[in-house]
Amino acid sequence: MDKLVVKGGARLTGRVKVSGSKNSALPILAASLLTPEKCVIHNVPDLSDIRFMLEILRQLGAEVTFDHGTVTTRAEKVISEVPYDLVRKMRASICVLGPIVARNGHATISEPGGCSIGDRPIDIHLRGLAELGAASHSEGGNVHIPKAELIGKEIFLGGKFGSTVLGTDNVMMAATAAKGHTIIESAACEPEVKDLADFLIKMGAKITGHGTRRLEIDGVSGLGGCEHTVIPDRIEAGTFLVAALITQGDVFLAGADPDHLVNVLDRMKSCGANIKANGDGIQVSASRKLASIDLVTETYPGFPTDMQAQLCALMSVTPGISAITEKIFPSRFMHVSELRRMGAQIELEGATAILHGVDHLSGAPVMASDLRASAALVLAGLVAKGTTEVNRVYHIDRGYEHIDEKLRKLGAEIERVR
Ligand code: EPU
Repeated sequence: MDKLVVKGGARLTGRVKVSGSKNSALPILAASLLTPEKCVIHNVPDLSDIRFMLEILRQLGAEVTFDHGTVTTRAEKVISEVPYDLVRKMRASICVLGPIVARNGHATISEPGGCSIGDRPIDIHLRGLAELGAASHSEGGNVHIPKAELIGKEIFLGGKFGSTVLGTDNVMMAATAAKGHTIIESAACEPEVKDLADFLIKMGAKITGHGTRRLEIDGVSGLGGCEHTVIPDRIEAGTFLVAALITQGDVFLAGADPDHLVNVLDRMKSCGANIKANGDGIQVSASRKLASIDLVTETYPGFPTDMQAQLCALMSVTPGISAITEKIFPSRFMHVSELRRMGAQIELEGATAILHGVDHLSGAPVMASDLRASAALVLAGLVAKGTTEVNRVYHIDRGYEHIDEKLRKLGAEIERVR
């Protein structure tokens, strides 16, 4: 198994190109199943999760190519069964459910279950689809939707943690094929949901309100092929932003969209970061140690849960005390015990991490437990005294394109050991 070996202490400077968004590309690829025509999707990052989604599309019957960031799909026919093996390896594969129901009127998909960041139910996805006429039942670990005649409806899609990203995606995609008008209240308004809606509109869907909490969709009799460019990855950009700050460096995040990072940029400015955005990207630097801040993760435009682990790494070495509260996945704190092994002083009180900034971290062998946790450990390694070995690096390869190469170009001492 590969590991990343990081020697701490280098100040990061220079320019890094932000890749296409993983969490936009995954549902957009799934949406290509909605049409028998050709779809061409640019700026797709080369990640193991993306390659896995392409494999799912192939197994469902699509012809797929992937060349230099461009995916071409053609799904003349789509199979309605998604077996456990495909869902087990990547929870996000649930976003093929909406397209299959829209296309075939019936579907069987394995229930994804939980993962290392916590319980990951799909009850809201299923409730929304049922409201549209695609009622399901569970049997043998599978969800069966035997027969759906999709009819537009007003649907409330909120849950106890707020809105759901992939749940909104699934219901929106199914509603494009429903007869009549659908309203989705308490829809997720993350930039990735808006990007998917923009893709669907190019395919011929009639959607308004995307990027807000209320989506309106008029069903159409069929969707066609289209060409689309995926938005930049705001979480990758945010991770490199933290890499710059934690090393008191000076980095230009080429292609990052400041509109997608309003909350993150605002919070980082308030702890002393210098941040300037222009049409090409974001310049970020820290000329001195930052000040500690408190944070609460929330649905967009709140502070993203996918940046919480990276902020734990940053606040571990920021003077003062900070409280980081996780409101989306309350047990997403697997990185905390590994950061502690590097010398971080962190207490967990329920869904809040209380961090006492320490003078320095010490390099240590650590274990990645999920994608963002592994990013946090690499960030901690960049600033730790000595050498940090981040094991189980396949987690990081799910969501960061060539992270070791990109960090090396900025001056980090990081090697991948196979
Ligand atoms: N939830 C329910 N019922 C549902 C669906 C969700 O209770 O039917 C709960 C979840 O358990 C969670 C909250 O609602 O507490 C929000 O979950 P959401 O459905 O929004 O998460 P997701 O759509 O499965 C996407 C991203 C995640 C990101 C979350 C939150 C993709 C492929 N994944 O997951 O990304 O953390 O939204 O923003 O878009 C990552 O990239 O590292 C990652 C985990």
